[in-house]
Amino acid sequence: MQKNVIKIGFLGLGTVGGGALQILRQNGEEISRKVGAEIEVKRIAVRDLKKARALEVDAALLTDQVEHVVSDPEIDIVVEVMGGVEQARFAIEQALENGKFVVTANKDLMAQYGQQLLAVAKKQKKNIFYEASVGGGIPLIRPLKHCLAANRIKKIMGIINGTTNYILTQMSKEGKEYETALAEAQAKGFAEADPSNDVDGWDAAYKLNILAGLSFSGIIAMNDIYVEGVSKVKLRDILYAQELGYAVKLLAIGEESEAGLKLRVHPTLIPQNHPLAAVENEFNAIFVEGDAVGEVMFYGRGAGSLPTGSAICADIMDAARAIKNEIQNCVIEANFAAKKVVPMEEQVSRFYLRLKAKNEPGVFAKLATAFGNERVSLDMIIQKRSDEQTAEIVLVTNDVSEGSFNQAMDKIREMPSIQSINSVLRVVE
Ligand code: NAP
Ligand code: HSE
Repeated sequence: MQKNVIKIGFLGLGTVGGGALQILRQNGEEISRKVGAEIEVKRIAVRDLKKARALEVDAALLTDQVEHVVSDPEIDIVVEVMGGVEQARFAIEQALENGKFVVTANKDLMAQYGQQLLAVAKKQKKNIFYEASVGGGIPLIRPLKHCLAANRIKKIMGIINGTTNYILTQMSKEGKEYETALAEAQAKGFAEADPSNDVDGWDAAYKLNILAGLSFSGIIAMNDIYVEGVSKVKLRDILYAQELGYAVKLLAIGEESEAGLKLRVHPTLIPQNHPLAAVENEFNAIFVEGDAVGEVMFYGRGAGSLPTGSAICADIMDAARAIKNEIQNCVIEANFAAKKVVPMEEQVSRFYLRLKAKNEPGVFAKLATAFGNERVSLDMIIQKRSDEQTAEIVLVTNDVSEGSFNQAMDKIREMPSIQSINSVLRVVE
């Protein structure tokens, strides 16, 4: 008999859980009509029962025991929005083994243990829905799994971390200090519980892992991805980049070439007229290039309570429809295989370099020779006097492999006229 009420349990009622619950309340009738069944919140696990909540919640719904949600026989769908890896992994495994569908926003978990958890879901003839794990409210997982499924995806590239994009925007547009902008991103609910995940590039790398897996039908290991965060980006670099016609963004890039997959996350100079340069604050944008469809761009709010809650609710609705209509769920990720990965040393980029050198004749020539010996040609160069003895030099190379660039840099570091290497960033045209 078809169910007319689908019962759900939440693990977590913070930024994302609170947003999802608010949407379920606000748009409950519309959601029920679209699903063909009522969605009832049966239980909510939180860490601290005494904590004041932005939303009014019946105390009887709350528990501080995850077990009360994952083992409740009446609950059909478990919504994991508490974050962390080990406890969330155990809870999701339990929920699946107890015959429940799972919805999660947890990219750390899906990037590292998604394959294992999806195998459990497949065995249980259930599924895990994880639209909210990448790009907040932007539809990305479903388009890659379904709408673009007939394409061979060649490349994905975009801004997939709201916190760092917020920080870089506030530094470049408002001249704010890095620490002030980070504190604001935390206060707005964009940042992870441990914000080093955002600023060190790991959050974007987890998301790239998920997107690349779906795009290239591959099983991706986290050490297949080169990761560099934004904490080294100084306001000075942003200003030089602007002078050279670029914006600085934390980009996640995944490509499939004949040599293998190229996967990287790093701060990047992109031309000011590139569409990604106009993506500001917590907004995310992702280009996907398919062989049949060409380029598709996805844009929207990549973090925050209601945008991410919107993706969670859509997943709850999908799971509820599967339950209501007794649909055997298909875990497409079960067909993915490991792929060859191109080492970072062999990947090709342009580079931006900022350094301090003694203000003496011949420095430019020595730099050009060091690069020339590694067949690196220079595209742009700026020199400004810091004081009587010191000059600040900023240059941009043409395309060069990481390996050759690093060799040239080793030579440059040894030069007596070079006082300090202050910044090395990649450039994408
Ligand atoms: P959050 O605001 O810190 O909320 C976490 C919630 O989980 C809180 O309600 C907390 O309880 C509860 N919780 C934590 N550990 C628990 C435990 N051991 N047992 C029971 N409850 C526990 O975090 P969030 O920003 O909503 O993020 C949640 C997840 O969504 C993370 O995986 C995050 O990466 C992901 N995500 C976040 C965003 C975003 O914009 N924030 C966007 C996309 C995805 P208390 O309330 O009692 O402390
Ligand atoms: N901390 C993440 C971000 C939340 O800033 O993008 C959304 O996944």
